[in-house]
Amino acid sequence: MTKIAVLVGSLRKESFSKKIAKNVMSLFPNEFETEIIPIGDLPLYNQDFDDEGNPPQQWKVFREKMKEFDAVLFVTPEYNRSIPGVLKNAIDIGSRPKPDSVWNNKPAAIISNSPGNLSGFGANHHLRQSIMCLNMPVVQQPEAYLANVAALFDDDGKINNDGTVQFLQLLVDTFVKLITTCKAN
Ligand code: FNR
Repeated sequence: MTKIAVLVGSLRKESFSKKIAKNVMSLFPNEFETEIIPIGDLPLYNQDFDDEGNPPQQWKVFREKMKEFDAVLFVTPEYNRSIPGVLKNAIDIGSRPKPDSVWNNKPAAIISNSPGNLSGFGANHHLRQSIMCLNMPVVQQPEAYLANVAALFDDDGKINNDGTVQFLQLLVDTFVKLITTCKAN
């Protein structure tokens, strides 16, 4: 079984990002298990806690949990042309202590989205910048920018547009190939 952690950059109850994540999770083959990892209760990163060898319990649980996974799918909105602080905080916590970074060598895929026209381009690329530094091989193509997402779902939260589902399936298939290649090497 290959395990994929899904990190959603929004804590909002009716988050479009979470709905997209749930739709995309259903597109993986059976031998891939996906799980949304909660990041909303992680105390803000403070290097003192690591330097003093006394990290908060929530950090310890998150770091241990993330080690179970083979790959990471990020689904995020854009906040002020970047990624939401809650997602950056989780990334920073997982990245330290540096030799134990939970991100190292884990393949990743990114889906940014927005109810507006710009589709979270800024967030997508800021996230790419961070995960390059964290040594995460990332799906390059297709790039997934979803615009106008408020109109993307039916009443059950399913994506109502076949073209978008096909596009997301292509992204998932490419991600699966990347994960498989990384695992073999
Ligand atoms: C936003 N929003 C937003 N949208 C966008 O396309 N580009 C942006 O830079 C921003 N900036 C921004 C900052 C803050 C603080 C908030 C709260 C919102 C709008 C955002 O895309 C919208 O609220 C989404 O619905 C958030 O994603 P979820 O919660 O639906 O996943």
